[in-house]
Amino acid sequence: MKMHLSITVAWFVSALLSLSKVTQQFSEGSTSSVEPTSIYSQFEQGGYEVLQYGNFKEFLDHKLNISQVLASFLVKDYTDCAFKCLDNIGCLSFNFATKPAIGTDQHSCHLLASDRFNHSTHLSLCENSPCQNGGSCRPLYQNKSFVCNCLGNYFGPLCKKVWHKINTDPVCFGTRDEDFGSFEADKTGNIHKIKLVHISGSVNCISDQVTSTKWSCDLHLNELNIHITDQNNIPLFPGRSAINLNPHSFFYQLSGFDANSPEIVFDSIPTPLAVTAGQKFRIWYGEDLRNVTEQDNIGKSCADVYVVYQIE
Ligand SMILES: *[C@@H]1O[C@H](CO)[C@@H](O)[C@H](O)[C@H]1NC(C)=O
Ligand SMILES: *[C@@H]1O[C@H](CO)[C@@H](O)[C@H](O)[C@H]1NC(C)=O
Ligand SMILES: *[C@@H]1O[C@H](CO)[C@@H](O)[C@H](O)[C@H]1NC(C)=O
Ligand SMILES: *[C@@H]1O[C@H](CO)[C@@H](O)[C@H](O)[C@H]1NC(C)=O
Repeated sequence: MKMHLSITVAWFVSALLSLSKVTQQFSEGSTSSVEPTSIYSQFEQGGYEVLQYGNFKEFLDHKLNISQVLASFLVKDYTDCAFKCLDNIGCLSFNFATKPAIGTDQHSCHLLASDRFNHSTHLSLCENSPCQNGGSCRPLYQNKSFVCNCLGNYFGPLCKKVWHKINTDPVCFGTRDEDFGSFEADKTGNIHKIKLVHISGSVNCISDQVTSTKWSCDLHLNELNIHITDQNNIPLFPGRSAINLNPHSFFYQLSGFDANSPEIVFDSIPTPLAVTAGQKFRIWYGEDLRNVTEQDNIGKSCADVYVVYQIE
């Protein structure tokens, strides 16, 4: 956790440094120009959820001539414009006026959905629209690559894979007395990912607690206790891929998820699970499945079940 935070801050600091450097260069450029001119900047955007960074490459005394402007602002300086661009997911570059707009001390800032590499001899990495199913493409010039931002339930490097919801009614499971939830495969195929999306309710392994969790217990906030089994109660997910599976209570850790994650995903499956249409599966609270210390359990959680059928 600490590690992650310090890396994030480092990215942020380097963004500030590179931006101020650019501002410096820009000041020199503007003194020599007679007409108000623009800087065209191309940048790469990387993302952490909270903080973002950009590597800006400036082109002095150039304006990228495209009619479609995503958004226009009046800003104090170059840095403000850069941050507007970072905040806008569609923004690949911006034009920044080196002189203030007439009658103000603010500069015009136009966010653009395109960049210089789209309008020059450089072949854009996104030119062939590699992202499928409505996904948008962002070039990563640093490593001659690109990333796709996928829509809806699509995912994967090229947005070709899709999460497929297989239940009709919510699948609800309790915490004691064989109160498992049921769902069935809607077609025949090989499942190689499965996710549960919490809809409502909560569960707990101790009845005297006022709070509760979506998938686990107040006493195990970093662990999960949800198991998908077949009709004979043979555990399938997380199955053997779970780390630190407690043999008695069935609590386990799953990287990236905790007791209150809105959804949990099982995707490190050693071999895809072959299923036939109509085959039934169960969702269990671990202690209920094992019949251990379940008498003080309370609650019920409901979820939708999504799978990815392997593309042959
Ligand atoms: C900018 O592009 C428009 C058409 O998109 C063109 O008419 C105009 O001449 C261009 N301006 C410059 C300065 O190249
Ligand atoms: C290229 O430009 C077009 C519009 O001019 C834009 O729709 C597209 O997203 C741009 N792609 C890249 C990779 O810059
Ligand atoms: C390119 O760089 C991005 C971010 O810097 C990284 O996420 C991605 O994995 C890299 N891709 C390749 C092919 O190296
Ligand atoms: C748990 O209890 C139920 C009902 O008494 C029983 O059918 C089931 O076999 C038990 N499971 C285990 C793992 O002991």
